[in-house]
Amino acid sequence: MLKRLLKCVKGYWFYTLVTPLLVLAEVLMSVLIPYRMADLIDKGVDAGNMDVIKSIGSVLLVYAFISMAFGILSGIFSAIASCGFATNVRHDMYYKIQTFSFSNVDKFSTAGLVTRMTSDVTRLQFAFNMSMRMAARAPANMVFALIMSFRINKKLPLVFLAVLPFLGFALGFIMKKAMPLFKKVFESYDDVNRVVQENVRGIRVVKSFVREEHEIEKFGAVTGMLKALSMKAERIVAINFPVMNISMYTCSLGVCWLGAKLIVGGEMTTGQLMSVMNYILQILMSLMMLSMIFLNLTQAKAAGDRVVEVLNEEPDIKNCDDPVMELKDGSIRFEHVDFAYAGGKNCLRDLDFEIKSGETIGIIGGTGTGKTSMVQLIPRLYDVRSGAVYVGGDNVKDIDLKTLRSGVAMVLQKNLLFSGTIRANMQWGKEDATDGEIWSALRLAQADGFVRALPGGLDYVIEQGGSNVSGGQKQRLCIARALLTSPKILILDDSTSAVDTATEASIRKGFREFMPSVTKLIIAQRISSVKDADRIIVIDDGEISGIGTHEELMASNRIYQEVYESQTKGGDFDEPQAD
Ligand SMILES: Nc1ncnc2c1ncn2[C@@H]1O[C@H](COP(=O)(O)OP(=O)(O)O)[C@@H](O)[C@H]1O
Ligand SMILES: [Mg+2]
Repeated sequence: MLKRLLKCVKGYWFYTLVTPLLVLAEVLMSVLIPYRMADLIDKGVDAGNMDVIKSIGSVLLVYAFISMAFGILSGIFSAIASCGFATNVRHDMYYKIQTFSFSNVDKFSTAGLVTRMTSDVTRLQFAFNMSMRMAARAPANMVFALIMSFRINKKLPLVFLAVLPFLGFALGFIMKKAMPLFKKVFESYDDVNRVVQENVRGIRVVKSFVREEHEIEKFGAVTGMLKALSMKAERIVAINFPVMNISMYTCSLGVCWLGAKLIVGGEMTTGQLMSVMNYILQILMSLMMLSMIFLNLTQAKAAGDRVVEVLNEEPDIKNCDDPVMELKDGSIRFEHVDFAYAGGKNCLRDLDFEIKSGETIGIIGGTGTGKTSMVQLIPRLYDVRSGAVYVGGDNVKDIDLKTLRSGVAMVLQKNLLFSGTIRANMQWGKEDATDGEIWSALRLAQADGFVRALPGGLDYVIEQGGSNVSGGQKQRLCIARALLTSPKILILDDSTSAVDTATEASIRKGFREFMPSVTKLIIAQRISSVKDADRIIVIDDGEISGIGTHEELMASNRIYQEVYESQTKGGDFDEPQAD
C-alpha cells in the first residue's frame, strides 16, 4: 500500500524531505533553551547577577526566534507537500476510474468511490502532513531531551524510564482495539453517502411519492450506525488522555521527590532540577504526540487501503493485443451467451440469434427479464460469462473498445444530460458537430421543434441531470446525441417511454428513411413501438421466448399474445405518459 501511495508524492519530494529537516532544526533550538535556562537561574537569578541574566536572556530570545522561523517554514513546506500529494492521489484515482468497466464500478458502488475520493483522501492528506512534521519532531524531541537531561544528571531521568513500560502497554492496547473499529467506521461512511446520494438524486421521486418520512428514517438508521461505531472507536481512543495524564503526574512527582533529595545532598542545583523537569515534560509531550500519530496513522491506514484498492483495481474489460480497428458492418450475432453480474447467478441464458446489418429489431419483455443486460453486451459494457457476442463478424473481445463503442450508440434507460448548453450536450456525441449537423440529428429525434422554441435554442442551458426539460424532451435529446455519433448500430433502451405515440412513430419513420443501413435495436414496453420492426425478440426470464415478425409472434408466441392483449384491451394502459 505504502509503495503505491508514495508514488503519488512525485513532484513534491523536495518539500516532503526538507520538512522533517526543518522540524529537526526547530526541535534542536527548542531543546537548547531549557539547557541554557539552567545557567540563567543558577548563575543569574540565584547569584543576583543582572548582566548574566541579560546576556543569557538575549541568547535565549534568539534561539526562540530561530526556532519559530524554522517552525513556520516547516509548516509552509509540509502544506505544499501534503496538498500536492492529495491532488496526485485524486488525480490518479480519477484517471483509474475512467478506465473502469460497469462491473468495476458495481464492485465499489458509486457512493463508495465518492467517499474514497473525498474523505478518505483528505484523511490521508492529514496523516501525510502530520507524519512529515510530528513523526520527525516527536522522536527527535524525545531523544534530544533524554540526552540533555542525562547530561545534567544521571539519576533523575531514570524516573521517566520506569513509567515507560506502563505507557507502552497502554498505548499498544488502545491501538489494537481501535484499529478494526476505524475500518468499520469508514465502511459506515459509505452507507451514509449512498443514502444521501440516492435521496438527493431522486428527490423528485421522493417528494412525489411523499416518502420524506421514510427517507428520513433510512438516513437516521445509517447515521445511527455511524454514530454507534464512531463512539465505540472514540471511547477507546479517549483512554489515551487519562493514561498520559497519570504518567505525566507520576513522573513529575517522582522527579520532584528525587530531585529534592539530590539538591539537599548537594548533587544538583535548583536550576538543573528545573531543566530536567522541563525535559521530562517535553519527553512526555512527545510520547503523547507519538500516540496521537499512531492513532491517526491507524485511521489513515484504513483510508489508505481503501484508496489503494481503487488504484490497484484492474479494469476487467480491456483491449486485447492487436485489436480489430474497424467495424465491418452493423451485424450482430449472439452465440450461446450466458451472462451474470459479478457473483450473481446467470440472468441471461443461452442467447443464440443473429441480426443482419441494417435490420430493425424490437425487443420486448417484462421488467427485470434481462433486456438491458442483453444489449449492454453489444458495446461490451459487460463481458459475457460464456459464449460470444460478434459485431460485424468479429468477437467483441477482439475489437478495439473505442472503435466498438463509437460504432454502437446506446441510449441508456437511465439516460443523462450534462449541465451545459444543448449544443455542448450534442457535441458529446460528436466533438466538432456543426449547428447544421446538430439540427438534423434533432430533427430525426423529433426534438427540433421544442429546441427551437426554447429561449436561446441550441444555447439553452440544461441544468444538472436535465431537470429543466421534460422527460420526453430529455429522451429525444439523448437520442439526437446518439445519432450524432453516426453509429453502425443504434440501441434505444426504452428511450421513448415518455414520448407520445405519434411523435414516436415519426421518429421510427425517420430512422427507416434516413438511416436504412444502421442496425436498430429498440427495447420498448409498448407493442406499438416495435410492431413495425423487421423482427421482434421476446425475452422472458433471461431466455429468448420467440423471435419473429409481429404477425408470426401473434400466431405462435403466447407471451407476446398476452402482452398484446393486455395493451389493447386495457384501454389507455399504453397511452403515452404525456411530456
Ligand atoms: N448492475 C447490476 N448488478 C447486479 N444485478 C443487476 C444489475 N443490473 C441488473 N441486474 C439484475 O439483472 C436482471 C436483469 O435486469 P435488466 O437487464 O436490467 O432487466 P430489464 O432491462 O429487462 O428490465 C434483474 O434481475 C436485475 O435485478
Ligand atoms: Mg432495462
